[in-house]
Amino acid sequence: MQTAAPFVPASASSIAELRAAAPGCRGCELWEPATQVVFGRGDEHAKVIFVGEQPGDVEDQKGLPFVGPAGHLLRRAVDDAGLPVSDLYITNSVKHFRFERRGARRIHKTPDQQHITACHPWLVSEFAQLRPSLVVLLGATAAKAVLGPSFRVTRSRGQLLPWPASAQHPEDFPSDHEATALATIHPSAVLRADDREAAYNGLVADLRVAAGALT
Ligand code: URA
Ligand code: SF4
Repeated sequence: MQTAAPFVPASASSIAELRAAAPGCRGCELWEPATQVVFGRGDEHAKVIFVGEQPGDVEDQKGLPFVGPAGHLLRRAVDDAGLPVSDLYITNSVKHFRFERRGARRIHKTPDQQHITACHPWLVSEFAQLRPSLVVLLGATAAKAVLGPSFRVTRSRGQLLPWPASAQHPEDFPSDHEATALATIHPSAVLRADDREAAYNGLVADLRVAAGALT
């Protein structure tokens, strides 16, 4: 089985230490064609953690998550929903960009379950450092990565779930404080939607529910 586990420093005491170790990960084959690893970023003491799918083309080049079009949309939605923008940490289920080459273009390819599983130890290590009060799962990949493969975003989006009790493997996550998880659509799905405005409003409505759990 492919896994990042041997590359995650077990004794890390900060996000910075984890981030420093991530470029050495060889937990699956995705590191090789990618430009660089894209680790999570944000406030080291953030109460809110956002989990996306994997870095996109722009993120792969810049080395930072959610700095492309989906990231811009997400920031606007977070703001419109009244979530504390300065108190966020944002990361991905898989930390290398998976793509297919078509001529000069690199086309995003959804990560397989094996990549999600391989990369999971990094996500677990980020949760261990941050101990978030609110976990927002963006899209099917993040929701399945954390809540399990049978979770359906279309059916259960926008619901407040007890955290980490709702996780597929609650024992992976710190459980000594009360927290909430919520799954919603991915900002990229808003960008692809036929009715963008309706999709955007749906995302903001879900994030408002999430914001309500913080107060
Ligand atoms: N989509 C994601 O899921 N993550 C990113 O970092 C960028 C786009
Ligand atoms: Fe390691 Fe995750 Fe990159 Fe695979 S995708 S090499 S597990 S950091």
